[in-house]
Amino acid sequence: MNFLLLGIWFSVSLILLWVTPEVTSSWWYMGVVGSSASRVMCNNVPGLVSLQRQLCHRHPEVMQSIGLGVSEWTAECQHQFRHHRWNCNTLERDQSVFGKLILRSSRESAFVYAISSAGVVFAITRACSQGEIRSCSCDPRREGSARDNKGSFDWGGCSDNIDYGIRFARAFVDAKEQKGKDARALMNLHNNKAGRKAVKRFLKQECKCHGVSGSCTLRTCWLAMTDFRKTGDYLWRKYNGAIQVVMNQDGTGFTVANKRFKKPTKTDLVYFENSPDYCMKDRLAGSLGTAGRVCNQTSRGMDSCEVMCCGRGYDTSRITRLSKCECKFHWCCAVRCKDCLETMDVHTCKAPKTTGWTNQR
Ligand SMILES: *[C@@H]1O[C@H](CO)[C@@H](O)[C@H](O)[C@H]1NC(C)=O
Repeated sequence: MNFLLLGIWFSVSLILLWVTPEVTSSWWYMGVVGSSASRVMCNNVPGLVSLQRQLCHRHPEVMQSIGLGVSEWTAECQHQFRHHRWNCNTLERDQSVFGKLILRSSRESAFVYAISSAGVVFAITRACSQGEIRSCSCDPRREGSARDNKGSFDWGGCSDNIDYGIRFARAFVDAKEQKGKDARALMNLHNNKAGRKAVKRFLKQECKCHGVSGSCTLRTCWLAMTDFRKTGDYLWRKYNGAIQVVMNQDGTGFTVANKRFKKPTKTDLVYFENSPDYCMKDRLAGSLGTAGRVCNQTSRGMDSCEVMCCGRGYDTSRITRLSKCECKFHWCCAVRCKDCLETMDVHTCKAPKTTGWTNQR
């Protein structure tokens, strides 16, 4: 009898171990849980490690901006990958947000880590400048006066406090990887850092003119972040030039996998494992497959029907939609258009022929 109970207890714990979501979840899920009731939120994101949970309880306003930022950087990720088989799609009601991708060390995973950590820096820094975070303010070190060929000017408008954003992002985002020191942790830490640095590249000087009727002999200047698209475009180029690495013998770091290529610098993205082709649905590989994706019949690139549909062919449907047409300019100042019905063909990739359930892993 006792043995029976022990057996049951054993199987139950095994099942619990199996379904525990801890492994595949991360702070990325904060965007889904929402950021209104912060105390509740901190306890409802299963993937937070204890340091992250502490920061979450201590800095509710920062968490709010991080949570709101998630939809921005995922949208940027989806924009960059819109023509690709893997399109940075998020999975609804899935705590891993990107599926099993989080467990991979592919190039796409490198990009997601970089852009998510960049997104955190961006969101916190902006919230800071907008006065939404009590523990930070404008960057105090950007003050004083300077001179250039156009005259003298003061520093000291409210410069975006990107160093605060970077410090907080490092503490919060890196906390998970600080726990384990395996290969994937090293890779994630490297890409997180590359992401944080990327935002800083695009600080730009903004000035306001003072002086007699806009003569601009006196200026007040400050540093401000530019559109997040700039960071997205930059990280996209880094994704395309990402460097494959292998672990050192002693396991303390990594080196370039192919000695003919250059060593990664701090701004490069690094990855360990080759990507799957993302043609088929394969949950373990973080691939949703391309069945049902829209493709471009005239393109010769990644979004062409040939490449996108992996040679499986595509379906064409004719859709009609309302659009503005025959727009005329009327003096002054209005543009009036007619509503026209526009017919267009939409091509979508066929699903793979079912060969049993093997691809549906
Ligand atoms: C399809 O690709 C062509 C060539 O790259 C491009 O000019 C066109 O705008 C694309 N069409 C759509 C609907 O994206």
